[in-house]
Amino acid sequence: MQVLGVDVGGSGVKGFPVETDTGVPQMERLRIPTPEPATPQAVAEAIGQIARSFQWSGPIGCGFPAVVRDGIVRTAANIDSTWIGTDAAHLISETTGCPAVVLNDADAAGLAEMRFGAGRGAGGVVLMVTVGTGLGTALFTHGRLVPNSELGHVFLHDMKAEHYASDAVRKRLDLPWEEWGSRFSEYLRHLENLFWPDLIIIGGGASKRFEKFSGSLVLRTPVAPAALLNNAGMIGAAVAAAEAGRSG
Ligand code: BGC
Repeated sequence: MQVLGVDVGGSGVKGFPVETDTGVPQMERLRIPTPEPATPQAVAEAIGQIARSFQWSGPIGCGFPAVVRDGIVRTAANIDSTWIGTDAAHLISETTGCPAVVLNDADAAGLAEMRFGAGRGAGGVVLMVTVGTGLGTALFTHGRLVPNSELGHVFLHDMKAEHYASDAVRKRLDLPWEEWGSRFSEYLRHLENLFWPDLIIIGGGASKRFEKFSGSLVLRTPVAPAALLNNAGMIGAAVAAAEAGRSG
């Protein structure tokens, strides 16, 4: 089944059609800069533009950078606060004319990695951390997702971890990779002491640069970069929509 996989990020809205049985993108991805302010209407319009450019009329799966329950956005750490309470699935369907499923962006990326990437076949507890404008997390136990885990918001040095160790912080403070890497390592050590995962998968924009900071990670848990790199969010969102369609 083909689904248009979309990822709404702090800096870009990206999408491509995905064959959900294999996780393989079917066309080159389209990226539109995230509108400013990133209001519901403006972001929905950007998704509409992506759908039109692929002449899309099938289902859409969308990863969104917030807590999302039953299609409704519940938080807004890195997106316009007017999203809170918005039925994102309904809004995207109305704008595009296509059925839509919306879920947390890191959860989407984690689903893709568990099925097609670095977490394939992994049992036990797997923690995916996406590094971008914020820090997103997806927690799996025996292959099943515990949705909306929001572990980028745990406190470290009296601040939210994503204000200490996200990729946006690295860029803003112009931190050398090693220095950022040791901040990120501190964050992951904190999480491994809380959750004792069997595997940690690193995704988001920073996954492409894994070799630049992997030497700074001092952890007891095995760590792997996302095999699908920054495409994991779009692929997982498409898979989630295909599954929602199949189950009802
Ligand atoms: C949000 C999460 C999101 C993460 C990555 C955080 O600020 O609270 O919901 O997954 O950023 O986009």
